[in-house]
Amino acid sequence: MTGLFLTIEGGDGSGKSTQSALLAEWLEAQGRTVVLTREPGGTDFGLEVRDLVLHWHGDISPRAEALLYAADRAHHIATKVRPALDRGEIVLQDRYLDSSVAYQGAGRVLEPAEIRNLSLWATEGLLPDLTILLDLDESIGRDRLKERTKYDRLEAEEQAFHARVRVGYLALATAEPDRFLVLDASDDLDSLASAIRERVSKLL
Ligand code: TYD
Repeated sequence: MTGLFLTIEGGDGSGKSTQSALLAEWLEAQGRTVVLTREPGGTDFGLEVRDLVLHWHGDISPRAEALLYAADRAHHIATKVRPALDRGEIVLQDRYLDSSVAYQGAGRVLEPAEIRNLSLWATEGLLPDLTILLDLDESIGRDRLKERTKYDRLEAEEQAFHARVRVGYLALATAEPDRFLVLDASDDLDSLASAIRERVSKLL
């Protein structure tokens, strides 16, 4: 594999999409080909799974939810991400397996190690070269989402759920300090973007 696999993680409202777009723009200006993608829903099949997992009208059992995210991921990695990495491109992905460990593991209280192994099985062991974690107090994330008229199933979860997600993410970053860049998402946009660029430039 010759490409670079970058993922961006954080709670809802942490600014992942803004920072992904800025980083993609900068990488393209360096002459790199960037595939900007996301989970759930990075493929046509994944869009159907995304709709199901985020908007199903009733409850979904925690294990079924974990399997749906894993199914989206398996197809996405096999059909879009690995081929791009094999072509030597940079894949910049909004959410990956750490989302599952934080939301389905710490949030839904499934065993984090099992959730991680499920994702590794689904992706034949693909781990990112770098994961940017935009860490934010969950109440600030909630405030930022307030303008939305409708929450999806995960966003609608109580604050305690989102607090567990945050703690779960930080535990992941502590366990793999070399893979993670943890940033304070309440910092201003430009400082965050330049901290990200500085770290990514070391990998180019
Ligand atoms: P996302 O697309 O980032 O939400 P939005 O576009 O509304 O900001 O993700 C949708 C939700 O799915 C988000 O609340 C986090 C959740 N999620 C999981 O619970 N597990 C996962 O493995 C992934 C990828 C996302």
